[in-house]
Order: sequence, then structure tokens, then C-alpha cells
Amino acid sequence: MILYFSGSGNSLAIARQLAEKLDERVMSLYDAVHADLQGETRIGLVYPTYWLDAPMAVKQLVAQLVLPKNAYTFIVITCGAQTNNAVWSVRRILKQKGVRLNYCHKIRVPDSSAIAFGRNPNDQAWKFDKYASRIDLIAKEIADKRNRLHFSEFDPFGWILNTKTLSQKAYRLTLPAINSEKCIGCGVCTKVCPQANISLIDKKAVMSDRCTLCLACLHFCQQQAVEIAGKPTIAERQYHHPNVKLRDLLRRE
Ligand SMILES: Cc1cc2nc3c(=O)[nH]c(=O)nc-3n(C[C@H](O)[C@H](O)[C@H](O)COP(=O)(O)O)c2cc1C
Repeated sequence: MILYFSGSGNSLAIARQLAEKLDERVMSLYDAVHADLQGETRIGLVYPTYWLDAPMAVKQLVAQLVLPKNAYTFIVITCGAQTNNAVWSVRRILKQKGVRLNYCHKIRVPDSSAIAFGRNPNDQAWKFDKYASRIDLIAKEIADKRNRLHFSEFDPFGWILNTKTLSQKAYRLTLPAINSEKCIGCGVCTKVCPQANISLIDKKAVMSDRCTLCLACLHFCQQQAVEIAGKPTIAERQYHHPNVKLRDLLRRE
């Protein structure tokens, strides 16, 4: 079973590709916390790097999972460049549960946060050409039950950045907010937010405080009404993995 978390679809696309090659099933981490996984002989986790670490939601969800102790367990991280502590911190949570991580690797994909820094994630589509062979390699190593942790080392800088005081400042640089003048109340953001953090009040989207920074709301808003730090969102810079559609990411109630 491959469990995923995904905002702009990169991790979902890779979870699906791995599942196809390994003849496995995929399940959202949100569903997995309610699922019986005890019969699984192989458990995979596929999720992104956010701010040099695993997304907050991933850490919270993995902590809630009831996992089989003897399954072959692997992590595949998606990232724009580097994974830093994205494996280290989840491996620590697994360890606390008595689950040993057998394998991990990373795949570089377009950086969905580039939009927050005035760049276009779609300009990084060249990364797709490179990752096909990496997926083949990862699938083979997992099928062979290799015990190998690529890119799992602890990064002190990533840890410092994610301490409470600093993270609050850093996270603000990628924290989405609704521009209510542009919002038409279509409700797409309320359904695509994996954290159920957005609701409609008087036909306007309103955010609560459970944002995990995945930016699904920003990338999928057809009105470009989700912005970061008050800067207008440019439609050409909105991004999602080309093989993942909005309907694939809609939250199941
Ligand atoms: C808020 C945020 C922070 C990010 N931080 C990093 C980072 O620290 N290092 C990195 O290589 N990529 C970073 N990225 C890029 C993502 O890891 C990458 O685009 C990932 O594939 C997104 O996966 P998803 O579409 O499944 O959510 C960040 C993306 C977001 C949205």
C-alpha cells in the first residue's frame, strides 16, 4: 500500500507511477489514518518537502497511523531541490511507533512554491524528463526489498528553521490568503484543501488556522483569488502536475 500526501499533485503522480510498477494500491494519508493496514506486507509513504522538512500535516498524520511492524517500509520524497529533514523527521515518528524504515529516496520535480518567490513552476517542466529513470530505479530497489536510505541524514539548519519562532516567520512567505474582492465563492478551494481549512461564509472563501502550506487552493483557483503576501497571483504561474487533475485532489468527505 502506498500512502500519499499531495498539494499540487507531484507526490500523487509519483505515488501512482510507483504503484503501477509495484502492483500496489494508493491511498491518501487522510484516509489511511482510518484504515486497517495490519495485513499489508509493504507500506510506502510519498510526500513533498516543505520548508526543508516534511509538511506539518504529514507529520501529524503519520503519528496517527496504525502501521504493521513487520512490513517493508519505504519513503519517497518529492522536492524542488533537496529533502533536508523531510525523511529524518518522519523516520523519527516511525521509530517511536516501533516501525523500521527500510528504504528512502527522492525525486526532483517542479517546485510548487516557486510562485511565492516570483518564479514560474511550469518553467521547471524539464525535471519530468529526468525523473522517469529515477522512478524505474526506485521501483526496482523497492521490488528487490533493498535496505538503503538515500538522503535521510539530519540537517541542523532545517531543524533550526522549523523551530516555532523561526518557522512562523518563514512559513508566512508561502502562506496563502483569500483576496475576497476576487473570490466569487465557487468553493473549489474549500474542496481541494486537504486540511478542510477553508469554508464559505456569505459566498466568500474564508481560511482558518490549519493551513499546511500545500498551496492547492492557490494553484487551482480559477479567479486567482488566492494570493501570498498580498501579491497578485498570475494565472500562467499556477501549477499542478500535468497527469493530476483537480478531481484527483478533491477531498473526500
Ligand atoms: C510551502 C512549500 C515549501 C517548499 N519547500 C521546499 C524545500 O524546502 N525544498 C525543496 O526542495 N522543495 C520545496 N518545495 C517544493 C515541493 O517539495 C515540491 O514542489 C513538491 O513536489 C510538491 O509536492 P505536491 O505537489 O505533492 O504537494 C516546497 C513547496 C511548498 C509548497
